[in-house]
Amino acid sequence: VPAEWENSVSEVLIGSADISRRVTELGHAISAKYEGLNPLLIVVLKGSYMFASDLSRAMKTPHELEFIRAKSYNGTESCGRVRIDGLENTKLKGRHLIIIEDIVDTGLTLSRLYEHFADAGAASIKTCSFLEKETVRRKSNVPNVDFVAFHIPDKFVIGYGLDYDQQYRHLPFVGVYKQ
Ligand code: PRP
Ligand code: MN
Ligand code: MG
Repeated sequence: VPAEWENSVSEVLIGSADISRRVTELGHAISAKYEGLNPLLIVVLKGSYMFASDLSRAMKTPHELEFIRAKSYNGTESCGRVRIDGLENTKLKGRHLIIIEDIVDTGLTLSRLYEHFADAGAASIKTCSFLEKETVRRKSNVPNVDFVAFHIPDKFVIGYGLDYDQQYRHLPFVGVYKQ
C-alpha cells in the first residue's frame, strides 16, 4: 500500500497497471461484439465514471454515452432502496444498451436498473461491471453480468470510482477499506 493511503487501505487488491490492461482488453472485446450497432453505454454515476471513461476510450467501434445516477449506499451498508435519476430525455427505442456499473454486490442496483430499461423498447440490453463480488450477498432475481473486468472476494473496496462516504474515488487502484 502506498504510504499516503496506509491509514485507509489495508491491502491493494488490483493495481493500476492490471486495471489498465484488463479494461483495455474488455473494451476491445465489447466493441468486437457491437460492430456496426452503435451501442448506447448507460453510465451509472457516480461509481462508474472512471471505468466508463477508460472503457469508452478502449472501444474501437462507434458508440454513444448517456449518464444516469443510482444511489443506495451510505457508508458500507446498502439502505435497500435504489434512487434512480436522469432517465427522462433519453430515447432508448431500438437501441443496443449496455449498462455500465463499477460493482455488483447484492445486485439490487443492477436489478432495479434493468427493470427500468426492460420496458423501453430497446433492441438489446447487456450489463457490464468493472467488479463483480462473489455471490454470498447476492439477492435473488439479479440479471447476469455479461461483461466483467474482475471478480473479487466479499470485502468493502474503494478506489477507481468506488467510494466510502464519497471519499477515495480518485485512488488509481482498488484497495480494501481499512475499517
Ligand atoms: C454502489 C456501486 C453500485 C452499487 C452496487 O453505488 O457504485 O452502483 O452500489 O451495490 P449493490 O449490488 O449492492 O446494489 P452507491 O449506491 O454507493 O452510489 P455511488 O455509485 O454514487 O457511490
Ligand atoms: Mn453506484
Ligand atoms: Mg457509493
